[in-house]
Amino acid sequence: MTEPGHVLEARGLRVWYATPKGRLVAVDGVDLSVAAGECLGLVGESGSGKSSVARAILGLLPEGAGEEGELRVAGAQVVGMPASELRELRGEKVSLIFQEPMSRLDPLMRVEDQFVEMIVAHRHEVSRGEARRMCHETLASLGIPPRRARQWPHEFSGGMRQRIMIGLAIVLRPRLVVADEPTTALDTLVQAQILEILRSLADDQGIAVLLITHNIGAVAEICDRVAVMYAAKVVEVGGVEQVLATPAHPYTQGLVASVIHLDTEALSSIPGSPPDLAEPPPGCRFHPRCPHVMDVCRSVEPPTVAVGDGTAACWLHVPEASRPTPVPFVGEVP
Ligand SMILES: Nc1ncnc2c1ncn2[C@@H]1O[C@H](COP(=O)(O)OP(=O)(O)O)[C@@H](O)[C@H]1O
Ligand code: SF4
Ligand SMILES: [Mg+2]
Repeated sequence: MTEPGHVLEARGLRVWYATPKGRLVAVDGVDLSVAAGECLGLVGESGSGKSSVARAILGLLPEGAGEEGELRVAGAQVVGMPASELRELRGEKVSLIFQEPMSRLDPLMRVEDQFVEMIVAHRHEVSRGEARRMCHETLASLGIPPRRARQWPHEFSGGMRQRIMIGLAIVLRPRLVVADEPTTALDTLVQAQILEILRSLADDQGIAVLLITHNIGAVAEICDRVAVMYAAKVVEVGGVEQVLATPAHPYTQGLVASVIHLDTEALSSIPGSPPDLAEPPPGCRFHPRCPHVMDVCRSVEPPTVAVGDGTAACWLHVPEASRPTPVPFVGEVP
């Protein structure tokens, strides 16, 4: 059964929080799409708004947060959806895999019982016996022997717990799985196994996977396309090969270069730090750190333009003749 369009479709998504310093816009006009069976990586430094995108998709924004824009999951508009429908959507159509599985698993409940409670809460027609069978089948598909289902969460290793959480996320066969830094707390070998499992969700079950990470290596490993976030905005999107081999946006270039330097153990990172989102810089938000900054960048926000198989939001990719002449600052000597 195929549905027209993407499983995840965001257009002009904005998310904000009320803070003592005023409104902080954590996601500012973001466009994203993920198709069935596709894995999209969402990368960017800490604080760029990645988890806020995830929380919006799941309808899990905290009290006091606001959102607007178009955000469709399996065709249903999530922004403005009543809480009861959101609860139904979660697990059924979309689910979230967190960084720390213990924050989601109930330490006082056997693994099997957590599956059964979750399943029967969503599927009233499913018997507890059938729910147990679904649990065993899902665990087995993730390499966990069903005989271990009666054990407690603390009896499993970190990697096994993350598999259990993936199991809880997929047992109801959602169309979209959002994995927010799913491997950050794990050692390298286990990380690779979890990434392989996420890839197989897309390949074997046609699930749309949104992998949120600050690890470009993980994206190179399993993603088809990648979106790069900087200071609440998506600055570049494209096929993984293109973006990693020939990044179009100077921020992406810095990110990719810092990974290459990590491999050679030379110290390299993008100089400076990301802006305070309560007071973002005018023009291109990356301009205070950009090695290619031009006058126009300091005052006019760059448009998002097509580059190769994707897009980038940078004046370098706009023909010079089409760039606006920046308005001088008041007091500036011409
Ligand atoms: N509940 C909240 N209240 C106020 N500000 C928040 C809240 N959650 C996140 N933020 C702010 O929103 C911005 C984006 O955060 P987040 O989405 O967690 O980014 P990332 O996942 O990329 O690290 C940050 O500046 C962060 O401090
Ligand atoms: S718009 Fe200007 S400041 Fe921003 S990334 Fe491009 S060149 Fe750098
Ligand atoms: Mg985060």
